Amino acid sequence: MRCIGCRARIAGVDARPDFRCAACGELFDVEYPGWGQRGGQDRPNPGGLKWVWRERRSSSEELDRSGVWRFRELLPILDNFSNAVSLREGNTPLYHLTRAAKALKIDQLFAKHQGMNPTGSFKDTGMTAALSVAKERGYEWVACASTGNTSASMAAYAARAGIKCLVLIPEGKIAWGKLSQAMDYGALTCQLKADFDGCLRLLSQIVQEAPIYLLNSVNPYRLEGQKTPALEIAEAFDWSVPDHLIVPGGNLGNSSALGKGFREMHELGLVAKMPRISVIQAAGANPLVRSLTGNGGTSMEPVEAHTRATAIRIGNPASWRKAVHAIQETGGWCLDVTEAEIAIAKAEIGAEGLGCEPASAVTLAGLKKLRAEGKVASGETVVLVLTGHTLKDADYTIDFHRGTLLKKEEMAGREAEITALRRDAVAVEATPAAVLATLKGRAG
Ligand code: F0G
Repeated sequence: MRCIGCRARIAGVDARPDFRCAACGELFDVEYPGWGQRGGQDRPNPGGLKWVWRERRSSSEELDRSGVWRFRELLPILDNFSNAVSLREGNTPLYHLTRAAKALKIDQLFAKHQGMNPTGSFKDTGMTAALSVAKERGYEWVACASTGNTSASMAAYAARAGIKCLVLIPEGKIAWGKLSQAMDYGALTCQLKADFDGCLRLLSQIVQEAPIYLLNSVNPYRLEGQKTPALEIAEAFDWSVPDHLIVPGGNLGNSSALGKGFREMHELGLVAKMPRISVIQAAGANPLVRSLTGNGGTSMEPVEAHTRATAIRIGNPASWRKAVHAIQETGGWCLDVTEAEIAIAKAEIGAEGLGCEPASAVTLAGLKKLRAEGKVASGETVVLVLTGHTLKDADYTIDFHRGTLLKKEEMAGREAEITALRRDAVAVEATPAAVLATLKGRAG
């Protein structure tokens, strides 16, 4: 592992329980010495890798069927791959977003739907990686602080591995779908009177005092798994990468991981360039936007976070330095979107027959802004990373369609747009005539 602050190198087994550098307090990246050197002994062969990864898609071996472990040459993090705990994560669909593309006058607009993972979010790709390390190292307990998806994912993988798990969540601030998953998969779930940032701070102290393996994205093995969607995207475009990748930003592990994935592919000669990586935050939880506009991303001022997109209700993101690196090295942007913009974009993704959770919809809302500012040209290929399934937060969707989600002042100027997207259920008499009359009313 290599510290992203003081550049110190340590062996993975020597990492502190909170995954902070003992010398400078920064986070680590997993590094594979030898990959960066052209002609180096340990450098995997790009043509051979592309061939073997594609072959594995038709393999019946358990490990090959995982969309993460299919790429195992790029995440050699286990001593023995038989320790991998998999739920057949990854291999998620890349959908054409035809209506949004038309509305935005972009030829090639896609959604990489990470909500189509086994527990309904992108977290599964990282969880299979880091939880497998926990299993290999013999941990009896794993833990995470979460806005919901990490805990759902961790609980499922821990259950598969027969490992006990502890979840810390902010009371009343996570979607029911996610909480129900943690319960169903058998986690010990503690609801704390604290926000996500408080939960993570507390857990970082707890793991120093008990032999519990921390599975938040400060654990760099999480990011090794979460970089694999970048490989899938490149593969789907026959190894010519899209121009622009747009990712929601919360704790900023995902944008960091995707940046690492594309960076490593570039270093290894699998792709010729990196896409622009842009990160979108909710306006009420935008510490990265503030950092980049205020001081060029050199420091981070925590904010008190508020947004209905509870997955990204995070005011003090752990991986902000890594995300700054990914944005700056690829020439991407970081911006924020309002609650109304998120709700509208989410309904539009729903109307394409895909759906996603509110936090994922910031990507489309952000793209609209980038397009309006002339930062995305019509000929570009753009991929939105949809991070969670629409059923994760059904309350949000129902409130939107019933018209009870947004306050008047939040909707100001956008009422017509919102009304056109709303599809509340209508109470109809149980007769063919009544249903047909309703249908007539909606015709056209
Ligand atoms: N989208 C969804 C659906 C999420 O659950 C999260 C994060 C993000 C986006 C942001 O990703 O943190 O890597 O920048 N959820 C975490 C959790 C924090 O606990 O489930 P990030």
